[in-house]
Amino acid sequence: MRIQLPIIRTSNESHPGGRSALTCRFRCGDACFHEVPNTSGNDYVGDVIAGALSRRSVVRAAAVVTAAAAAGTAAGAAVAPKAQAATAVGKPAARAARGLRFTPVAPNTADQVTIPEGYAQNIVIRWGEPILRGAPAFDATKQSAAAQAGQFGYNCDFLSLLPLPGEPGRQVLVANHEYTDEILMFPGYDAENPTEEQVEIAWAAHGLSAVVVEGNRADGRLVPVTRHPLNRRVTATTAFRLTGPAAGSDLLKTSADPTGTRVLGTLNNCSGGTTPWGTTLHGEENFNQYFANGARATDKRYGLVAGPTERKWERFDKRFDVAQEPNEVHRFGYVVEFDPYDPTSTPRKHTALGRFKHEGATVRLTDDGRPVVYTGDDERFDYFYKFVSAKRMKKGTSRAVREHNLSLLDEGTLYVAKLTGDSPALEIDGTGKLPADGEFDGSGQWIPLATATADGAVSHVDGMTAEEVFVFTRLAGDKVGATKMDRPEDIEPNPHTGKVYVALTNNSRRGTTGNAPVDEANPRIGNKHGQVLELTERWNRAESRTFAWKLFLVAGDPNDPATYFAGFPKDQVSPISCPDNVAFDPHGNLWISTDGNQLGSHDGLFGVATRGSRRGELKQFLTVPAGAETCGPLVQSRRVVVAVQHPGEIDGATAEKPLSAWPDGPGKINRPAVVAVWRQDGSDIGM
Ligand code: FEO
Ligand code: CA
Ligand code: CA
Repeated sequence: MRIQLPIIRTSNESHPGGRSALTCRFRCGDACFHEVPNTSGNDYVGDVIAGALSRRSVVRAAAVVTAAAAAGTAAGAAVAPKAQAATAVGKPAARAARGLRFTPVAPNTADQVTIPEGYAQNIVIRWGEPILRGAPAFDATKQSAAAQAGQFGYNCDFLSLLPLPGEPGRQVLVANHEYTDEILMFPGYDAENPTEEQVEIAWAAHGLSAVVVEGNRADGRLVPVTRHPLNRRVTATTAFRLTGPAAGSDLLKTSADPTGTRVLGTLNNCSGGTTPWGTTLHGEENFNQYFANGARATDKRYGLVAGPTERKWERFDKRFDVAQEPNEVHRFGYVVEFDPYDPTSTPRKHTALGRFKHEGATVRLTDDGRPVVYTGDDERFDYFYKFVSAKRMKKGTSRAVREHNLSLLDEGTLYVAKLTGDSPALEIDGTGKLPADGEFDGSGQWIPLATATADGAVSHVDGMTAEEVFVFTRLAGDKVGATKMDRPEDIEPNPHTGKVYVALTNNSRRGTTGNAPVDEANPRIGNKHGQVLELTERWNRAESRTFAWKLFLVAGDPNDPATYFAGFPKDQVSPISCPDNVAFDPHGNLWISTDGNQLGSHDGLFGVATRGSRRGELKQFLTVPAGAETCGPLVQSRRVVVAVQHPGEIDGATAEKPLSAWPDGPGKINRPAVVAVWRQDGSDIGM
């Protein structure tokens, strides 16, 4: 028996960014229905923003993919109502940039993963598949916390594929499990009275999975290698180390951890990055929603609310009750570093990268070998940041080298971005009309917030100690007048050019009464479709404190005059809405996945050329099933891998009555899953 959903909006009151109310409720704690937490009075006329070595740059498919005319559709085909075949929307594919020569998929609402003609797909791994020794096969009616702790987690998001030397054809897949949707997971779920077992299953379904995957010589499919010694689950109860300048601070001490250096678990891991030293980074994003009874001013800046949480975890562990354990919430909202090659390692939370709703974290090395990490704070009117390490990466795989590299993100300077437009403010009229100089562009500054050294940390923000800067980073950004952005999501440096791309997903409140006005980097009132910012900065030894920026894409329907595709003819591009995760392919094309398409199509994955005569030519590569979001894109030379997150997350859906048939057919419980796509003829993607 299920009770009627409480509080939640009706479907005609859906998320301003196009998500279902169910997604808002479980993913971000209804962030968009709450007041904007940034009420600071920063000067927006000058504007703000920011973005690092590719998360994927160390990654190369080890698998040998050979030609085979494999059957086109993978699981999910059972439902496939509409055409697998796509409709061309652009010029002949052969003329597109290298890597983008495919027939684009037309916008659609097919309840399947729709891919271009000539491509094939398989489901790599689903929620609940056993990955550790002794874990049982998934059974929706017999879920347990013990089972889930050995199975692939829920709602896969960021993906990394790392090489596995000595094991040909195999790679290590690391996946984030951002959040749980209990209504879709548990038959008969009672949101007012979750059981202890359900809560513990949810803890075990959060976190990360590491699972070795194997390529198939006959085609491009990937399959998991169960019980491989590197397979691992990290959950909401796994032991973590807090490292860096705020570790051991009074702000991080709790009754269970008087040292302020040890914390259990990671939550709401959204996007992330792969480091050049072979670890993965994971952003803790909407952590606030798991903590009850937050009321302090600093809590409000992070969106904590008074009262109980949606999931009621505070009933089963008092650390989720801010009134009882005030500092536990200060131990979430960090960038996590995970070592996939050492299954006994303790993952770390890096306080030097600041505490906010980290979408992700991506790394690039300076010319003298120091990591620069870009990280966005995904909230309307929040900021983007970069961290520049004081230490150089060492090459090698010895234990000492590895330990050194795992300390790279503990010492260095954290900066926040401030952007200034170069066109007169009056020319930015809120409609998206280009200013007279033909571009939304300008210059930017990286404003230092605090520097962590081996001997301690120094604040660069008046009125805040260094520890306060690292724990209440949003307040530090407010004080220095950082630029309020339209929800900074994933950031990715182009490994070929060094230019850095920042996805700004949307901001329904931009320019509305009581909120920050439009500016040249955030030029549309009530921005529904988002934009992609391109930064140019130097990578020489000197820490770059300035950059140039321009809007690379202003997303939406190309027929809408308020859109821009780097100047490419708009009658030759695919429509795109709500850019979220970004990645580069081996050719230097940017791939963008979307969250919350506002144009009537399901979410999808798009590739766009960033240079040459085809710069700005954007083409849709796939769409995902009903209710789903496309996450974690990885584009290797012969394989595209995506996480299909929250399939069937549609208002009114339940575990017993799913509203999507993906991936296992009508009436079957929806299981978020990772999907691989390849060319049927065995050749490279988009060539
Ligand atoms: Fe978890 Fe910013 O999307
Ligand atoms: Ca301009
Ligand atoms: Ca995201």
